[in-house]
Amino acid sequence: REEREQLKARIRDLLKARGAVLVAHYYVDADLQDLAEETGGCVSDSLEMARFGRDHDAQTLVVAGVRFMGETAKILSPHKTVLMPDLDATCSLDLGCPPEQFAAFCDAHPDRTVVVYANTSAAVKARADWMVTSSIGLDIVAHLHAQGKKILWAPDRHLGSYIQRQTGADMLMWQGSCLVHDEFKGIELELMKKEHPGAKVLVHPESPAAVTALADAVGSTSQLIAAARDMDATEFIVATDLGLLHKMREAAPGKTFIAAPTAGNSATCKSCAHCPWMAMNGLRNLAAVLERGHNEVHVDAETGRKARVCIDRMLDFAA
Ligand code: 13P
Ligand code: SF4
Repeated sequence: REEREQLKARIRDLLKARGAVLVAHYYVDADLQDLAEETGGCVSDSLEMARFGRDHDAQTLVVAGVRFMGETAKILSPHKTVLMPDLDATCSLDLGCPPEQFAAFCDAHPDRTVVVYANTSAAVKARADWMVTSSIGLDIVAHLHAQGKKILWAPDRHLGSYIQRQTGADMLMWQGSCLVHDEFKGIELELMKKEHPGAKVLVHPESPAAVTALADAVGSTSQLIAAARDMDATEFIVATDLGLLHKMREAAPGKTFIAAPTAGNSATCKSCAHCPWMAMNGLRNLAAVLERGHNEVHVDAETGRKARVCIDRMLDFAA
């Protein structure tokens, strides 16, 4: 505990000394989320992280999250220094959508508007017409559908099919998934709902259809926190990364949050929903990166310029 407090104090000093700001996602360690808030940084969903990093005056952004979040920050602010506690922190959606195969998929369907989820590499974004995050994907696809556009969607098949069910859009889909949310199961969730009849169910749309079908609210991490705070209930079952429960408990004190069951529903692990790549962000490697200035995110300038087009489109739409 003492070591933790010392590390936190060192990080506060180093952020100041470097003129850096900490931009954290809700799935990282609670200590990192608290530090980001205390020091004038932000803890938020991926859309807000992108906007915050772009608009902040600091010349150094430290992104506590996964690789695509650091890349997006760099693409939007090519002249800033973007550091990450661990550059190997990636995402199963990004890994499951290699740029060359994705380009071939796009080439085979030139009549379709290409919409990609934020959880992709810069090279994949460079090939897209639109980037979306979970908070705004539905609105953007509804907008494109209303214009009569046919869509090529990548990479998350669960988020894609959720949006397709809601909008009725014509969407040809890449078959990727998030290894964390893919583990939530409808049957077990139904049983849990029976054990907690008054509980409302909050679901991130990267979860399978059988799980979103049981939801009282579906949304991005920020939207789920707002639902936890605003919905008229005292008990919630939450189908997303366990990291989010920290902020939910802060935002809605007095309410009870239960982790939704995953496939590994054993006595010791009722829900093991924690992203292994988000978990690579810790106090030690954050302090080290601030001390040494290593782990800088680089995006090839030409790729970054091309990728920026689809990100700006989303940010303009959201504004
Ligand atoms: P949000 O945009 O909802 O924060 O989601 C990012 C993510 O990676 C969820 O798994
Ligand atoms: Fe990717 Fe899933 Fe981890 Fe989010 S939780 S970063 S989608 S692997």
